[in-house]
Amino acid sequence: MTYDKKLIIGLFGFGVVGEGIYRVLKQTPTLQAEIKRICIKHPDKLRNAPAELFTTEADLLLNDPEINVVVELIDDAEAAWHIVSTSLGSGKAVVSANKKMIAAHLAELLQLQDENKTSFLYEAAVCGSIPVIRNLEEYYDNDMLNSVTGIINGSTNYILTRMNEDGMPYDEALKLAQQLGFAETDPSLDVEGTDAANKLTIILNHAYGIVSAPDDIMCKGITQLHPADSVYAKEKGYSIKLVARAHRVNHTDVAAYVLPTFVGPRSQLFNVRFEFNGVIIGTRLADEQFIYGKGAGRYPTSSAVLSDIAALRYGYKYEYKKLHTGVDYHISNDHVLRVYVSCENMSDVSQNDFIAIDETYNSQSRKYITGSINFDKLRKAAWLHNPANSVIVFGDSGTADSLPPESVL
Ligand code: HSE
Repeated sequence: MTYDKKLIIGLFGFGVVGEGIYRVLKQTPTLQAEIKRICIKHPDKLRNAPAELFTTEADLLLNDPEINVVVELIDDAEAAWHIVSTSLGSGKAVVSANKKMIAAHLAELLQLQDENKTSFLYEAAVCGSIPVIRNLEEYYDNDMLNSVTGIINGSTNYILTRMNEDGMPYDEALKLAQQLGFAETDPSLDVEGTDAANKLTIILNHAYGIVSAPDDIMCKGITQLHPADSVYAKEKGYSIKLVARAHRVNHTDVAAYVLPTFVGPRSQLFNVRFEFNGVIIGTRLADEQFIYGKGAGRYPTSSAVLSDIAALRYGYKYEYKKLHTGVDYHISNDHVLRVYVSCENMSDVSQNDFIAIDETYNSQSRKYITGSINFDKLRKAAWLHNPANSVIVFGDSGTADSLPPESVL
């Protein structure tokens, strides 16, 4: 696809982001991109667009040879997979924001792009408006990445901010995140950490060339956090954030997890509040860099979709450069984390699982343990899933960034 070719778009979905991109494209005539048809699931809903644009027949878009770009913005991951795989298979360029679908079908999507030589862009799938994918793909090519650490789910960050700064109850904060259009249709994907694990799966591919499945990534969301955890955090000067982290533990192994994390004031993530996302990229030469912006919501997400559509004008494709570096990175579960575990009864947590215990605290209402634990032991521990226990990682633990530069050069 070149500059002179007009982009004729088939849009799937007219929800928060679908309607956003429709409005944005109307205001961006210089892009020469026109929405020919919009496929929706519920024809009876009132829509802010001419009725003749809408259909419920996906094939009308998929089989239309004039449509050269499919923009997929629906929340049903399986239906999205059908739309995206069919479109790529027939040579259409595709823009998607569907992190769940992309993470679940990563290997097949790589193969489809390879076979069909078509563009498949999905900047909006990871961190909304922040250009994470394109930066990992294009910029950090030769400078070895030590780590990618971030707040990559806007809803949970919004909920935690509201709870900790305004004392808002969890249910109310979640409801607001839904009303503001940040949360997934099934908000358990946000609050259980699954959405962040899907995004981290995509990040791992563009950062390290790792082709994994979301199930390969240990994730815990924010549902098991207890009010006593916030008291502990405040006393120590921390903020509790849901953090996704990938970091090299040696020259071929990468640790990857999504866990509630104590973030100290010296971290750039400390001041990432509400629906904002922030990603710290640790590299061998540049040291640390931080990218920050809105991670959810109609127009921030539309801005990433718009950028992908614009990139199609010059035929941009991800080259998946990290797949071809000659270094075969794998996810490793053999590394150590420093954690805080709070519980109702000390007997609910197996202290033998710890390598070392730093502190135990016993009050009538809540108990906690802090100490070091092997990651593999932690992820397999039955007590981790006891809803009465909460686990929070100390944000400075297990970091390769603290290695002196000589040891990584
Ligand atoms: N539910 C997602 C979030 C939307 O809150 O981050 C953006 O991916």
